[in-house]
Amino acid sequence: MSDIFAKVQEAIAAAEAETLANPEALEAFRIRFQGSKTVQGVLEQLMAEIRNVPNERKREFGQLVNTLKQLVEEKVRSTREAFESASAGSGGVQLDLSAPGEPLPLGSRHPVSLTLNRIVEIFTRMGFSVADGPEIEDDWHNFTAMNTPEDHPARDMQDTFYIVDAPGILLRTHTSPVQARVMENRKPPIRIIAPGRVFRNETISARSHAQFHQVEGLYIDRGVSFADMKQTLLYFAQEMFGAPKIRLRPSFFPFTEPSAEMDVWLGTDTEENYRLTKGTGWLEILGCGMVDPQVLLNCGIDPEEYSGFAFGMGIERQALRLFNIPDIRMLFDNDVRFLRQFAAVQ
Ligand code: DAH
Repeated sequence: MSDIFAKVQEAIAAAEAETLANPEALEAFRIRFQGSKTVQGVLEQLMAEIRNVPNERKREFGQLVNTLKQLVEEKVRSTREAFESASAGSGGVQLDLSAPGEPLPLGSRHPVSLTLNRIVEIFTRMGFSVADGPEIEDDWHNFTAMNTPEDHPARDMQDTFYIVDAPGILLRTHTSPVQARVMENRKPPIRIIAPGRVFRNETISARSHAQFHQVEGLYIDRGVSFADMKQTLLYFAQEMFGAPKIRLRPSFFPFTEPSAEMDVWLGTDTEENYRLTKGTGWLEILGCGMVDPQVLLNCGIDPEEYSGFAFGMGIERQALRLFNIPDIRMLFDNDVRFLRQFAAVQ
């Protein structure tokens, strides 16, 4: 009698121990326990034994067989599911390791990256290294440290996107805050450029966009002069555009004194140059100036000992010029037919 109970226990242990490595093993397991039209399964065999169990233990026996039944059902269900999801993952096709690989189309660099790489290459040749800063900035680095306190009218020139529930946090309007971050953490001599994405609350048009890229430059040391800045920027313009000359127009930025805007001479010989320079032959590419002593003070550098120059340039407009692209929005449309054209450009 107790033999019958032992048999069920053994069947439970056996069902538990079974590993079902493939669908064939699962099917064999299922038939072994649940049976088929032609085969009597273990469950049915055991249930048939109930007539040999004394009445007072029939209930106990029935429960034990039921445990086995549920175990088998659960195992069949979960194993089947595992096989199904595995084959769905491989598209229902068995993995053939000897099949040739799928060809991946080769990407191309974005024209903004291509332009940026050229800029970085020219400045690293002159001994500048590349620095980095966050796109989500605080008010101090973006404005106040750069000598643009709250209520300064210059803030109107660079309206940005603020974060409603975090006053004092904003999307940086220029790469100039990287100047402050570098100066706060390093001692002169400092010679860095800082490329990156910037944001303005602006209407999007063919010539301007609410997000674009800049490269900041900063050079701080003893005895750095305006003439050093002019020569550095002239060299850049020649290398970048083959431009024969530059011009510096007096301008205003809160963080430099004196300040200037720099144009490079492209001429009006071609239609593109005519359009890009609005018929003047001059393309404005950057703002620059001698770092305001107040900015040095804000960042813990003694203006009596050190001086320096800084500049900030937009990358998109230079990309338009380099690759004869008529509309700035094309740079952000992500149309692969447009982007693919730059595959061969280094
Ligand atoms: N941050 C300025 C802008 O976005 C550009 C600029 C001007 C940067 C003069 C400078 C600078 O470092 O010296 O309009």
